[in-house]
Amino acid sequence: DLIAQRFDRRDIVRGGLAIAAIAAAAPITALSSMDAKSKEAAASVFGFKELPIGSDDTHHVADGYDADILIRWGDPVVTGAPQFNANAQTAEAQKKQLGYNNDFLGYFPMPGAAKPGEHGLLVVNQEYTNEELMFPGIGAPQRKKDFSKITKELAAIEMAAHGGSVIEIKKTTGKWQVVADSQYGRRLTADTPIDISGPAAGHARMKTRTDSAGTKVKGMVNNCAGGVTPWGTWLTCEENFNNYFTGTAQGHPEAEKLKRYGAPASQYNWGQYDERFDVSKDQNEINRFGWVVEIDPFDPASTPKKRTAMGRFKHEGAAGIINTDGRYVVYQGDDQRFDYVYKFVTGAKVDTANPGANKDILDTGTLYVARYNADGSGEWMPLVHGKGPLTTANGFASQADVLIDTRLAADKLGATKMDRPEDVEANPKTGKVYVMLTNNTRRKPGQEDKANPRANNEFGHIIEMTPNGGDHAATAFKWEVLVTCGDHKLASTGASFNKATSKDGWFGMPDNVAFDPDGRMWVATDGNKKSRTGRNDGIWAMETEGPARGTSRHFFRVPNGAEMCGPCFTPDGETLFVAVQHPGEGKGSSFAAPATRWPDFKPGMPPRPAILAITKKGGGKVG
Ligand code: FEO
Ligand code: CA
Ligand code: CA
Repeated sequence: DLIAQRFDRRDIVRGGLAIAAIAAAAPITALSSMDAKSKEAAASVFGFKELPIGSDDTHHVADGYDADILIRWGDPVVTGAPQFNANAQTAEAQKKQLGYNNDFLGYFPMPGAAKPGEHGLLVVNQEYTNEELMFPGIGAPQRKKDFSKITKELAAIEMAAHGGSVIEIKKTTGKWQVVADSQYGRRLTADTPIDISGPAAGHARMKTRTDSAGTKVKGMVNNCAGGVTPWGTWLTCEENFNNYFTGTAQGHPEAEKLKRYGAPASQYNWGQYDERFDVSKDQNEINRFGWVVEIDPFDPASTPKKRTAMGRFKHEGAAGIINTDGRYVVYQGDDQRFDYVYKFVTGAKVDTANPGANKDILDTGTLYVARYNADGSGEWMPLVHGKGPLTTANGFASQADVLIDTRLAADKLGATKMDRPEDVEANPKTGKVYVMLTNNTRRKPGQEDKANPRANNEFGHIIEMTPNGGDHAATAFKWEVLVTCGDHKLASTGASFNKATSKDGWFGMPDNVAFDPDGRMWVATDGNKKSRTGRNDGIWAMETEGPARGTSRHFFRVPNGAEMCGPCFTPDGETLFVAVQHPGEGKGSSFAAPATRWPDFKPGMPPRPAILAITKKGGGKVG
């Protein structure tokens, strides 16, 4: 039975399995010598001195690096934007200023730039808002949301602070700056006109009272992570869209479908001022949220598109790679406990010579959901109407139904229920795909499987997937756990970092991931804090190859209350942009008495989510 089950080196060494029983079949000699090697000081692909962990009210980077503030919430983005005034905010001003809670960052070199790594467009997701820190007089967060102070104007500011931003940035005399009054400066909000495209566009379930064609929607919300395509567009992902809808599922014709997405979650009171956010008044509007949105950052007048072929769920990110056969493959996670890992494969090949020819390539293709088998093999199962159980008899009358109800379709296929899939991204150098699984404390003993091996998974883990034959379009893959997170010196955590990892080097809750131009992996975390892991969130550099595999090293950390988002490298590897989200968030923290006033530290100024540029003192590649 043991042999029939998949075993890996860590299982054997750690678990104390009956080695003798499997000696006949397993390459034990090789395994043991590899473990011995990992105990040696394995050569590292990283050359920086590790940052000590900590928890305080500001950010820190490893010795020898600068981490400079590039732009903060409220700073001008669009020409004519007023300067930020925390005490006199308006929706009109916010529509032209950087939005709140910067998450994903994408960098596009300026075409024709002498140095592509020193001049480009930076795109920014603005995920959500913290009213208690943004607005005077709201007070500290309450257990139950109190909307009595959220006036129509404050709700309008919230809507304007969501969505995304495009800024032009340039490095002059060694320092990055936002180009003022750039022709590219753009804000996208919860009101921006967006086209709906792909198989669900125009379907009856996408039609509303104000859009009888079912092809145009206003706005995008909860834009978490995303991707940058080789044809120069930005993919930005709607995650917890259920939070923005109010009303009741009771009596709603699609009550069961709403339930599968946790809607309406009523975390905002926009529905009080704009009926489309009230499911009791506008039954279909919610079907128009929860998608991947594609935007051309170089054309501020362009209309973004919600690409329905890529599925509807709580999208974390959408990181793609050009496959060996030329098609584009986008990996996606659905960030919820017990939800799934997806990929989308385009029908057409990417035209690398003519970027404009790929304009609507994401409208046609196949969406797949992952099953992780116990033997280390895996299968991508197509979400195609008429295939397997995805039939009219089972409630899927068309491909539009399959896509609008992606989660329900994936349930039917028996996909593997994961521990909150966040970023899923291929290392462009090796082609191996990494899945960040942030945590899942609701997984009970007995609910473990090989891909989600810990009950009460407090600290998350990272899975490595290898497409069969290096073909990202293949339906078969192999996988193994790269690392289970947490303090690996404590046996009780079941954490499996390489023994070479220091007390500062381990982390919990992997969330976003980035690969630098040399194919080295950098992980951003969400949920570390002093009381939980003895450290704030930040960036950790992670070894993936050779004896050092599974060793991580601390590089950057955020101020108290913040989450680390958006790691993004310039193509020369000399700048790492990071997004510090919700600094000062937490119990008892408010506009009047915030946990930190980062990054301005001025009396009366609330904390402000901000983007930083990290560079090496004296120049050179980061890390
Ligand atoms: Fe917006 Fe899954 O974090
Ligand atoms: Ca995330
Ligand atoms: Ca996050």
